[in-house]
Amino acid sequence: MIKIAPSLLAADFAKLGEEVREVEAAGATLLHIDVMDGHFVPNISFGSLVMDAIKPYTNLPLDVHLMIENPDQYIEQFAKAGAEYITVHVEACRHLHRTIQLIRSYGVKPGVVLNPHTPIETIKHVLEDIDLVLLMTVNPGFGGQKFIDSVVPKIAELSYMIKQRNLEIEIEIDGGITAETIVPCAEAGATIFVAGSAIFGKEDRQTALQSILKAGED
Ligand code: DX5
Ligand code: ZN
Repeated sequence: MIKIAPSLLAADFAKLGEEVREVEAAGATLLHIDVMDGHFVPNISFGSLVMDAIKPYTNLPLDVHLMIENPDQYIEQFAKAGAEYITVHVEACRHLHRTIQLIRSYGVKPGVVLNPHTPIETIKHVLEDIDLVLLMTVNPGFGGQKFIDSVVPKIAELSYMIKQRNLEIEIEIDGGITAETIVPCAEAGATIFVAGSAIFGKEDRQTALQSILKAGED
């Protein structure tokens, strides 16, 4: 089953409540929350206060993508703000296993994110401990970038590893997702698709979201 997670980063920040309602009605399964600190990535976005602000407007589970240094320091804050998933970059975690346990200790589902160049091998010893792997299909930091095709074989490799071990782990893809780029990713075994500009950049969000979803399901 294909799930679409619109990224708030591309929404109109002056009317977030309305934006969130609109994508929920359009058929989103999760809301993707991009947190950037200006250190791990060359851009600053927003923190948990924005989650507090949108909570009254949506029942969608919040999928928090932390693009920050020292994630351990902020996990409690994002857990308390109501995250369903908290995903941390393997490149930002010195003690990845400890960070995963910390996320789990708050009753939140832990996920791990890999940049486009980071090999699957880096997470092979924590696969049993996580609920989700997020593979970046752009270099993190900005919305609206071009999809990096060379990540597609990595999706297939990860999907194979998960099946072989008989695990239940979502494979999420983030960056440059459109009704075209979703196709090879879904074929390779991805299940959750983040889309920012391809949804919030369009006047008619319902049509935009549904056309991405349909393309992924076909
Ligand atoms: C990039 C973020 C993405 C971004 C995706 O660093 O992690 O979630 O918002 O935006 P699009 O879909 O426009 O590439
Ligand atoms: Zn993201």
